[in-house]
Amino acid sequence: MKKIVLAYSGGLDTSIIIKWLQTTQNAEIIAFTADVGQKENPAILEEKAIKTGAKKFYFKDLKNEFIDDYILPSLKASALYEDRYPMATSLSRPLIAKNMVDVARRENADAVAHGCTGKGNDQVRFELAFKSLAPELEIIAPVRVWEFKSREEEIEYAKKHKIPIDVTKKRPYSIDWNLWGISIECGVLENPWQEPPEDAYQITKSPAKSPSKPDYIEIEFNQGIPTAINGKNMNCLDIITLLNGIGGKHGVGRIDMIENRLVGIKSREIYEAPAATILHSAHLELEKLVIERELYHFKNIISKKYAELVYYGYWFSDFRKCLDAFVNTTQKYVSGIVRVKLFKGQCIPVGRKSKFSLYEESLSTYTSKDIFDHKASKGFIDIFGLPLVLEGKRNRKK
Ligand code: ARG
Repeated sequence: MKKIVLAYSGGLDTSIIIKWLQTTQNAEIIAFTADVGQKENPAILEEKAIKTGAKKFYFKDLKNEFIDDYILPSLKASALYEDRYPMATSLSRPLIAKNMVDVARRENADAVAHGCTGKGNDQVRFELAFKSLAPELEIIAPVRVWEFKSREEEIEYAKKHKIPIDVTKKRPYSIDWNLWGISIECGVLENPWQEPPEDAYQITKSPAKSPSKPDYIEIEFNQGIPTAINGKNMNCLDIITLLNGIGGKHGVGRIDMIENRLVGIKSREIYEAPAATILHSAHLELEKLVIERELYHFKNIISKKYAELVYYGYWFSDFRKCLDAFVNTTQKYVSGIVRVKLFKGQCIPVGRKSKFSLYEESLSTYTSKDIFDHKASKGFIDIFGLPLVLEGKRNRKK
């Protein structure tokens, strides 16, 4: 009998997929759920998966692997897709796919399956990861090919096959949740002119209703990795959890954007990513202090490319690994402390210090302590401006 490992969330789609795969593929289904911080009860999920017809259920706590191997590299790279999205969803897909491949190998499975639609990015991310890691595995994407054309037809199918689903909960949005952030789309958000209603946001307070007094937080980094909050050493999971809480309280990390999907569609999505927003902003602030100008500018270009690779599902490519090697080298001196102010939806860095700081007060000051050689600037400008002098002369000749 054919064996298929399915990325299982317990929602309507993946519940139906279990039955659908069993019947259309004559297969045994192994359901796999990753704990990426979405706060799921594994016992309930397991019962549901088995009741629905899965032969086996795997629930793996991947939170630390997610942080160490996916989130931190992307933080060090300052990778924000289209300058804003910290890619909580995008980063989680290769992680889940990798762990599904591990299960597929252990179980001697023939195929892997996911519940992504045919018009999104996630199908690409899952499948590129599967192809990179286990090209021998068959990939099945039921939602792309099955007969159901609406939610109602799916519910009908579920009833017919006695699949336990919660039809009372017709959620107004499609939500993907993990510890690095939440992605929310569909419903009224599909109108790009419509401001997101408050009920679309899951973990952030409206800035209008957030505290009228700011919170100040000191975040310490060691070689680009956050290590302490307000002087207290903490592991990254605790840091992210804490920052999601306090950032959320101040309405920090709400992102409302039109983004370019890989499949060519423009989509409107909103995100909530308090911890990611705070950490990216603090990390970038520290880099400004310790990284030399040309390297800093060049790293900006790398950040854009890095974000594209992640968003496009090129996680397991040599390209991404090469960029990681570059980024890691840039982080040698990214150690120090940044103080940020959280207030009314904003995270503002207001202080920074590092033992590797390139900031020299004696050079930047406008007081009598100034040691900068003002006269040297004349020669610098003469030579730096020479190309423009030549060009200007030539242009005036015409
Ligand atoms: N647009 C985001 C991405 O491609 C999130 C996709 C999943 N969104 C969702 N609401 N289920 O990474």
